[in-house]
Amino acid sequence: MKITVIGSGYVGLVSGICFAKLGHEVVCVDKDETKISKLKSGVIPIFEPGLKELLHEVVAAKKISFTTNLREALNGSKPVFIAVGTPQDEDGSADLSYVLSAAKEIAQLSNSYKLIITKSTVPAKTGAKIKKLVLETNPSLDFAVASNPEFLREGCAINDFMNPDRIVIGVADEKSQKILAEIYQKFSPQKLVFTDIITAELIKYASNSFLATKISFINEIADLCEIVGGDIKQLAHAIGLDSRIGEKFLNPGPGFGGSCFPKDIMAIVNVAQENKVDLSLINSVIASNKNRKMKMLAKISAILDGKITGKKIALLGLAFKANTDDIRYSPAISIAKELLKEGAKISAHDFEAIENSKHELTNFSEIEFFDDVYEAMKDADLIVIATEWPQYRKLDFTKISTRKIVDLRNLFDAKKMHETGFEYFYIGGKS
Ligand SMILES: NC(=O)c1ccc[n+]([C@@H]2O[C@H](COP(=O)([O-])OP(=O)(O)OC[C@H]3O[C@@H](n4cnc5c(N)ncnc54)[C@H](O)[C@@H]3O)[C@@H](O)[C@H]2O)c1
Repeated sequence: MKITVIGSGYVGLVSGICFAKLGHEVVCVDKDETKISKLKSGVIPIFEPGLKELLHEVVAAKKISFTTNLREALNGSKPVFIAVGTPQDEDGSADLSYVLSAAKEIAQLSNSYKLIITKSTVPAKTGAKIKKLVLETNPSLDFAVASNPEFLREGCAINDFMNPDRIVIGVADEKSQKILAEIYQKFSPQKLVFTDIITAELIKYASNSFLATKISFINEIADLCEIVGGDIKQLAHAIGLDSRIGEKFLNPGPGFGGSCFPKDIMAIVNVAQENKVDLSLINSVIASNKNRKMKMLAKISAILDGKITGKKIALLGLAFKANTDDIRYSPAISIAKELLKEGAKISAHDFEAIENSKHELTNFSEIEFFDDVYEAMKDADLIVIATEWPQYRKLDFTKISTRKIVDLRNLFDAKKMHETGFEYFYIGGKS
């Protein structure tokens, strides 16, 4: 089936390439000419493991093409996925301007049946807004609207797309359901959850809110462990063995970040407020996560006896999590900014996120970026591990002269670190 995907970012690009791998004929569209010209020449503009190889495979099979010309891309395709950004607006709501402008363009440029599917994360009732806008823009267009929220995680996006726990599809009529069932025909029918559009839209926000709550929960329990003398690793393992709780998302850390959780929980709270529904639990998750960054800073400050000014801090990790170059709402970046404001000198390392971080931290002169992790740690007063890159677990400690490490991702065994001669501080245990 011919499929158009609007937006070639983390979600649009992975979805487009995976749809092509599933055998569909895909056209990926983006307004960003640099991105499209890179993609045309086989270069992936983001870091996502395995994506380059898969792109080359589907290009060789002639299953995918890239363009900035939406009219051309719409030609001959019924399903059109909208996978553009829905960033946080000033009032906390989801900014739907990119989604609505893409929908309007589809209406203006189409003259045959279109199924307009939101893959972007959009608040409840966005489908209805799109329907109204398309009807107003092109009253004679034969079209339908559907919702197919995406659950992939950066860093393991291909595997998540190709082996999903479930595929949520919100539709309003049988024709839409048939088209989407055909698109996903290579997946087991048990994976497909068909529902109405509003429920599909809500499922995405409810999932992210639940996961964010789980993270904030374990972070707060880690704080308690630290004070009363328990060990969070053993605690998390033991509670995770309860199948009602599950072992995933029980790693304490510097708070959740990234391009999804922070903005999505703000957006669901905003929708609830508009509809006069009290989401006090999710509100407290927002507050808890905000406090988290300051708690991490207080921890670092205490280790340095309150003297941050002039201290050289090696910051290991800038991305919001491992295996991505994405720094949107990255706790590491927030911590870096606060430390720099307090007068620290930072030598920062990351495996993929240095370029993005340089742009974000351009106003600070006391930060240097290193490709070599050992160079970043040279002569540091303190090493702060802020992103859980697996490579950090394999650090050669004999090459490190600094003796103080604060590990905000609990990568190491505290006992072994102490035996190796480090003053090792971690989250949720005796240091
Ligand atoms: N990043 C994730 O891990 C993830 C996971 C699940 C869902 N989502 C959701 O998916 C959506 C997209 O997120 P992302 O991280 O891929 O965003 P992104 O910022 O990486 O990509 C969005 C792309 O859309 C393009 N664009 C914007 N308006 C356009 C238009 N009118 N026509 C063509 N191109 C246009 C931009 O140039 C950009 O390349 C968001 O709603 C997000 O919440 C993201």
